[in-house]
Amino acid sequence: MKTLETDRLMLRDWQPADCDDLFAYASLPEVALNAGWQPHKSIEDSLAAITGLYPDCCYALQLRETGRVIGNIGFYNTSICRIFQCLDGRELGFDLSPAFWGNGLMTEAAQALIGALFDPKSSPISPALRGPLDYLWFAHFPENLRSRRVGERLGFRRLFSRAHPVAQLGSAEKTEVFYLLANPKVFGHSWDQCPKT
Ligand SMILES: CC(C)(COP(=O)(O)OP(=O)(O)OC[C@H]1O[C@@H](n2cnc3c(N)ncnc32)[C@H](O)[C@@H]1OP(=O)(O)O)[C@@H](O)C(=O)NCCC(=O)NCCS
Repeated sequence: MKTLETDRLMLRDWQPADCDDLFAYASLPEVALNAGWQPHKSIEDSLAAITGLYPDCCYALQLRETGRVIGNIGFYNTSICRIFQCLDGRELGFDLSPAFWGNGLMTEAAQALIGALFDPKSSPISPALRGPLDYLWFAHFPENLRSRRVGERLGFRRLFSRAHPVAQLGSAEKTEVFYLLANPKVFGHSWDQCPKT
């Protein structure tokens, strides 16, 4: 995938050499459990995530000032709901080292990624994308207010909440709140301007 740059961050492909930086935050329960997966128990878990899960849809967030990787942002090929299957959408997922929370870094990263996903002609990122995405969705656990605020700042609209088993948390039944962001370049208008029926 092509590198994306923001004022403070470089969004780039994950490398195996990033496993120490990943482990430093992915081993923390406040990151992992809020994101819906088990904390990494070893560097090997982090290496497996980089080589197995992260390719093709995830960017390492490298802080330009220090060169260290402090988080992840990805667009996953998972579907929110059968009624949206005729459209091309992805799930937005993100996690950040707690040492960097409260500085607007994830909003900054997500704005750059969304811009590229919604307008790949002006900012091409991946040959795997056929064209601009129609929409993005994301979900958070109700108690994860930081994640909710990121979504709201980005313009996501709440759709529904639903309890379902989360495989990566031992199939425990958890409620998640689901949101959608329509691509105004595809639909020709913003979500707010959709006619009320
Ligand atoms: C979700 C998560 C990435 C949010 O991190 P965050 O630091 O709150 O989000 P941002 O980087 O966008 O920063 C926004 C905060 O920085 C503040 N901020 C400071 N400077 C800012 C700037 N220039 N621009 C925007 N916000 C700024 C904002 O006021 C906001 O704080 P507030 O929400 O208390 O008002 C982080 O909490 C996390 O990794 N959690 C664990 C994993 C997780 O939950 N993942 C999501 C699963 S759905």
